[in-house]
Amino acid sequence: MDQHSNMAAAQPVYWLGKDTLRVSAALFAENRRRLCCGLKDKDGVEPRSLVLLQGGEQKQRFCTDTDLLFRQESFFHWAFGVTEPDCYGSIDVDSGKSILFVPKLPESYATWMGEIFPKEHFKEKYAVDEVQYVCDIVDVLSDLSAAALLTLRGQNTDSGSICREASFEGISRFQVNNTLLHPVIVECRLTKTDMELEVLRYTNRISSEAHKMIMKHVKPGQKEYEMESLFQHYCYAKGGMRHTSYTCICGTGNNSSILHYGHAGAPNEKTIAAGDMCLFDMGGEYYCYSSDITCSFPATGKFTPDQRAVYEAVLRSSRAVMAAIKPGVKWTDMHRMADRVHLEELVKMGMLSGSVEDMLKVHLGSVFMPHGLGHLLGIDVHDVGGYPEGVERVDEPGLRSLRMARLVQERMVLTVEPGIYFINHLLDQALANPAQSCFINNQVLARFRGFGGVRIEDDIAVTADGIELLTCVPRTVEDIEEFMADSAKTFSPVVSAEK
Ligand code: GLY
Ligand code: MN
Ligand code: MN
Repeated sequence: MDQHSNMAAAQPVYWLGKDTLRVSAALFAENRRRLCCGLKDKDGVEPRSLVLLQGGEQKQRFCTDTDLLFRQESFFHWAFGVTEPDCYGSIDVDSGKSILFVPKLPESYATWMGEIFPKEHFKEKYAVDEVQYVCDIVDVLSDLSAAALLTLRGQNTDSGSICREASFEGISRFQVNNTLLHPVIVECRLTKTDMELEVLRYTNRISSEAHKMIMKHVKPGQKEYEMESLFQHYCYAKGGMRHTSYTCICGTGNNSSILHYGHAGAPNEKTIAAGDMCLFDMGGEYYCYSSDITCSFPATGKFTPDQRAVYEAVLRSSRAVMAAIKPGVKWTDMHRMADRVHLEELVKMGMLSGSVEDMLKVHLGSVFMPHGLGHLLGIDVHDVGGYPEGVERVDEPGLRSLRMARLVQERMVLTVEPGIYFINHLLDQALANPAQSCFINNQVLARFRGFGGVRIEDDIAVTADGIELLTCVPRTVEDIEEFMADSAKTFSPVVSAEK
């Protein structure tokens, strides 16, 4: 049976009814199978080794008893697809046998939190081989007489944080190896299975629709946070997405040049003005799978000549990169290609003059695009695997911000998100640097102070000879203007009747 028919036949492990996506537990069984294959090929993994992962814990707000909304830890989700907190999971590398450990809940749980399910419920729901209680983990693992417990320890190359290694009282009785698992599981997460791609297509479809709904609704005079709220409502009401993949970025006017605007210190609170460019970077998350989409457009729905020029410069780099992506290309080369197109376009606009080749030598592109071209996407919005051992960051402006510097591979899912921004302190630095300022026509540049920025961010899956574009939103100036003008065809976030 192929993966698709397998998925359709099985009872979904996750489905929120109506038109939301049905996901089969087979997705996680396949991930575990791939992990065991990878570990069997890995030097140092002894026979009778057991993978041991610890799931995320339910946490409270500071010292209170107010629960934070739980979201599963990403590696644990990848391997087990379990939505509940405070679990462990083991996988026998030789046989593939999986055991899920769930907490034994106190009687009071039934009063405050709801039904306490028996172990059989979890065994059937998650299609694991066995379910045990966490309180019995020492005895259960002892009975397995594993040669080693393989626990997960390694650095996230975007945050620099070390992932939390499985631990329980009594683990010191076991032989533990915490170095072998991380590189193998990260490499497994790097490329996506057919079943994972199906979920990522879904997150992109719903999030694309939500962006389009916003393009229909946006008007000068509204608040940026109203757009955030509409996006979240659409994704949850229509798509069953309770979480977004990251904090919504709804920058308008000069705020559109703030790369990660929208955080608590700059919380999408400006009133949208008529002359503003909007840069809305938002992605819904379904069953822990992400999306990451940016739409840039004028608040009025009609581009000024300057807005059009900057937008079309970014669109040209986006499309040039997408046309070039296929297995084997260097991601750093794609970044350099985007820089080159931006500089060529800024020359055409009269903002820069001179040889683009010489501009590249002094990294002028990074003044306008200080971030990386794009990143891996999966269970995490900045997904793991960008810098395995042996792949070094390129220590140059712009390129050093890339979250991946390896060759593109089939089944990678990546964002392509070039942008041109007018960030005052970077412009001032460039003007103060004779090696860069010699290319800048400051009179033209001055016109763009306060413009903000344009980012065009699409999610793609790499195929055998190119890409599959997962994101579907209006992209050309003409398409955007036509789409936004046609406000009669409003996109309503109203939900349909029960199915
Ligand atoms: N939304 C964060 C990013 O584009 O990487
Ligand atoms: Mn983004
Ligand atoms: Mn991104």
